[in-house]
Amino acid sequence: MFRCCVLLTSLCALFCTQPAASADAASSANQRLIDAALARWSGGPQAGWLSRILPPTMTATALPEPDSPAASLMARYCVQCHHLPSPAMHHPDKWPKIVDRMVVRMRGSGNRGALMKDMMGGAAAPDEEEVHMLIGYLRRNAQKPIDVARYPDLDTRGRSFRDACDQCHVLPEPSSRPAREWRRVVQRMEDNMSWMNRIVGSAPQRGEPQLRRQDILGYLESKAGR
Ligand code: HEC
Ligand code: HEC
Repeated sequence: MFRCCVLLTSLCALFCTQPAASADAASSANQRLIDAALARWSGGPQAGWLSRILPPTMTATALPEPDSPAASLMARYCVQCHHLPSPAMHHPDKWPKIVDRMVVRMRGSGNRGALMKDMMGGAAAPDEEEVHMLIGYLRRNAQKPIDVARYPDLDTRGRSFRDACDQCHVLPEPSSRPAREWRRVVQRMEDNMSWMNRIVGSAPQRGEPQLRRQDILGYLESKAGR
């Protein structure tokens, strides 16, 4: 009886943990690709502006569907010039055009295309099938945009939220998250703003609009989902 349990336990250790283990392996392989790409461009002469294009908030394990083939395409192609993008940054309709713009660069044309291609150290650009897969993945895991018809007070009570939160992506749908999550998201967005707009720690420019954190949070929390 005892032996039988031991046998079962060890069989389980072998087989039951298999999917989790391979998912971990997939995202650590992705993280290695990401780290290697970062090491390539972060020491170069372009590092200053490249590192500010996107904030360093995403990791291979934080990506949605972390062990999917599409997530590994993200790790392979989308970190060669800036930090890892989050699919939740943009709403579904925005992604195809953004990916097209990036692919043009990866193929060595467009704005600063030659420089960019050079920076990639000869890495290949995605083929048509991979582009299709990337777009599908980004759209599937995208931001849920606000349904403005449901928020007639957006220009009054929601004004701080409206003005602050559509600078880098569409306004997100307030009911898409519970209140406690909004607190975390707004905190991270504050970090994103200082990362993407100016050197962290530098004084804000005079007249630069300041984030009305309490107003924004109050609005989001009053409209939050469960
Ligand atoms: C060859 C270099 C290069 C590669 C590779 C690259 N990008 Fe970019 N990306 C840029 C540059 C330069 C900018 C800033 C200018 C701009 O927005 O077009 C940028 C900006 C962005 C932005 C912020 C701008 C916005 O509209 O929100 C996102 C998001 C983005 N890239 C996503 C991606 C994704 C997804 C991939 C992989 C499919 C990718 N990038 C691969 C060069 C690259
Ligand atoms: C300076 C640019 C910028 C501004 C301004 C900005 N965001 Fe974002 N937002 C980002 C970036 C970059 C991401 C993806 C990376 C991340 O999640 O940190 C993102 C992602 C998000 C997401 C998806 C996050 C997730 O985990 O699913 C939400 C929701 C969001 N933003 C809400 C807001 C709100 C609310 C505001 C206003 C307080 C705001 N954003 C202002 C850049 C910005």
